[in-house]
Amino acid sequence: MEKTQQFIGQNKDKFVSELFDLLRIPSVSADPAFQNDVKACAEHLAKHFKQIGLDEVAIYPTAGHPIVYAEKILDSALPTVLVYGHYDVQPADPLELWHSPAFEPVIKTTEIHPEGAIFARGACDDKGQFFMHVKALEAMLKSQELPCNVKLMIEGEEEIGSPNLAIFVKENKTKLKADIILVSDTGMLANDVPSITTGLRGLSYVEVEVTGPNRDLHSGLYGGCVANPINILTQMIASLHDENNHITIPGFYDKVQELTPADRAEMAKAPYSESAYCQALDIKETHGEAGYSTMERGSIRPTLDVNGIWGGYTGEGAKTVIASKAFAKISMRLVPDQDPVEITKLFQDHFEKIAPNSVRVKVLPHHGGEPVVTPTDSFAYDAAARAYEQTFGKRPIPVRSGGSIPIIAMFEQELGLKTILMGFGLDSDAIHSPNEHYGLFNFYKGIETIPYFFKNFSQQ
Ligand code: BES
Ligand code: MN
Ligand code: MN
Repeated sequence: MEKTQQFIGQNKDKFVSELFDLLRIPSVSADPAFQNDVKACAEHLAKHFKQIGLDEVAIYPTAGHPIVYAEKILDSALPTVLVYGHYDVQPADPLELWHSPAFEPVIKTTEIHPEGAIFARGACDDKGQFFMHVKALEAMLKSQELPCNVKLMIEGEEEIGSPNLAIFVKENKTKLKADIILVSDTGMLANDVPSITTGLRGLSYVEVEVTGPNRDLHSGLYGGCVANPINILTQMIASLHDENNHITIPGFYDKVQELTPADRAEMAKAPYSESAYCQALDIKETHGEAGYSTMERGSIRPTLDVNGIWGGYTGEGAKTVIASKAFAKISMRLVPDQDPVEITKLFQDHFEKIAPNSVRVKVLPHHGGEPVVTPTDSFAYDAAARAYEQTFGKRPIPVRSGGSIPIIAMFEQELGLKTILMGFGLDSDAIHSPNEHYGLFNFYKGIETIPYFFKNFSQQ
């Protein structure tokens, strides 16, 4: 990989400026106002994939946003790596909290990134990360050092739950035949503590609606006499956790895999500072389920969180009113072997059951996804771990993450393939938040590490 590494060293500025071009396209999948930008982003990528010499470059339309595909097949006898990523991004709002515009990338230094970080929506999640694979591939192709076959599948709907990728995968199993899936869409512990993500939580996401009287009421004339949907909704939500912060939905924990004390002891070895954690978030203390550490609460334990809540009057001044309706969006992060469909049903039954007679409730399920845990005793994991050793000079630590990438479990079911989650982001990179950024160190280190994975993996 000498020539490849040399090519990378000589083209660092070019790589960053190309990533900037990609980040300038506001490919927000959730908002229909950006539909043409999402399409333009897919076209931009397809053009770029052709430029760097990939074959079979195609944009596959779906009922939603398109999938971009490309490949390089050297020899059918060689192993094949299927790289997955997403070119769609989260909405940038609240816009006023960005220090520079979300779709005008700039490099600024931070305490954690003294060498500079790229600030833009999608810089880390996931444009900056999947683009590392594109650049690593370009370097290997230019240097004639690509050691195995590669297929590239970059979708435009990850941030909205990948509703159409599942269909595409089911319909294109032959096209997607490979030996391993490789994804950079997660994080690592710190720039001097490399880690490989070995698990993702699943997700059940619901919206609830509580209806009281048939119209908004004067809170003086009717207050005290009818159920206030906002009061009721907040009481119902509060009852979903007990005093130990356990979730009270009957059956919620039935399928949760408990880790052995040995596994938990192993997990506890990962470096973690409670005070640094609190300081970074400006909180006095952490909060969560009794009996578990912060690291465990955020990875191996399921959760229930209100993501948004609204109803009644929220404008200027005071309006004395009892609203007819109240709403909330609620996410539940799931761990093996919880099933998102089952959990959604448990939530729905429970929520309807605890509703007092004075209101009516509706539960509307949104997208979901299954949890995954990836093996650490496989040849592919070792190939990845050795790649990190080659570039960081340290063996990476396996870490289960709290985030979700719903399509990963589906890849395993439909394609029979395991996934290696080689993420290079940091928790402090503010993904989904204002001022999202991605360290130049992380971007370059990823581009340097990926070719070693290809090399190591092809030597089986
Ligand atoms: N890349 C993230 C997931 C992630 C980030 C996993 C960091 C591990 C570490 C992904 O784009 C994402 O945001 N997923 C969503 C789920 C999706 C259905 C909207 C999530 O986790 O909320
Ligand atoms: Mn992502
Ligand atoms: Mn995301």
